Amino acid sequence: MLTRRPRRLRRTPALRQMVRETTLTVDDLIAPLFVADGSGIVRPIGSMPGQAQRSVDRLTSELDALMELKIPAVLLFGIPAHKDVTGSSGWDATGPVPQAIRAIKQYAPDLAVIADVCLCEYTSHGHCGVLADAPGSGDVLNDPTLELLARCAVAYADAGADIVAPSAMMDGQVAAIRAALDAAGHDQVAILSYAAKFASAFYGPFREAAESTPAFGDRRAYQMDPANGREAMREVALDVAEGADMLMVKPAGAYLDVISAVRQRYDLPLAAYQVSGEYAMIKAAAQQGWIDERRAALESLTAIRRAGADMIITYFARDAARWIAGGA
Ligand code: PBG
Repeated sequence: MLTRRPRRLRRTPALRQMVRETTLTVDDLIAPLFVADGSGIVRPIGSMPGQAQRSVDRLTSELDALMELKIPAVLLFGIPAHKDVTGSSGWDATGPVPQAIRAIKQYAPDLAVIADVCLCEYTSHGHCGVLADAPGSGDVLNDPTLELLARCAVAYADAGADIVAPSAMMDGQVAAIRAALDAAGHDQVAILSYAAKFASAFYGPFREAAESTPAFGDRRAYQMDPANGREAMREVALDVAEGADMLMVKPAGAYLDVISAVRQRYDLPLAAYQVSGEYAMIKAAAQQGWIDERRAALESLTAIRRAGADMIITYFARDAARWIAGGA
């Protein structure tokens, strides 16, 4: 005779609904947007079906959908008209991201606007900071990069961003940005720190989307080694000490243990980034008819929530919000 029969509580949808431990709601979702300099641009991203680069004047249909679905926040990436060795378009007040922030604040004032802060979309070499002078040197200089990241953050705050999200993985970037924001009168602008960001193969499609593939080398000298979980805790500790308001682990799916460990040790709001490669894999398998897109996407998002993330940055934001609301 079995006395324990876990199946009793799995028998009907209502019973399963009662005992469900983890919820996924629209409140948990953050939608990334790629904003291109120029006008009249809607350029689909081949490796990310359903996603596109858009110029500011072509954002409205996307914003309408986000508002209708009540998605609370967007994360902005810029594709500038010009790139140079220092990434100066990144802090240009007339660049795509500041323009988009102003437009969104006017058109969709209820949306929280998060601006990604990194130089890789803006540098001619595609690295996340400035390089040492030596010819052929691939060294990304840490401290000289901090000031440039701070300029970007202030430009986005000036334009009206609610939150800035430094993703360059330079040491001390949160402290440098906090100091610069405060000095510029932006003490109410929050920092969402990409605290534990790994050097991941899953960023591949994003680099097509943001046109930010490094011209040489890779990012392993500044992004984290995927093998390291304890080091992630040290990275998070530093960012908390430097004044991060919210934390992020990135990517999400292959790093659920890191999300869980951060959740247990820290009380700040925690985001996880389901990155481009995670999205592309589900999309590609679904297009082949090898996987049920809706179920796989919702399962992956629920798992990220179960691991402990409060918020999920995901290219499925729109679809997931629709599915959760009961739409097809
Ligand atoms: C910028 C940045 C990257 C991503 C977010 N911010 C790319 C990278 O580090 O190469 C990746 C996002 C994704 O893959 O969806 N540094």
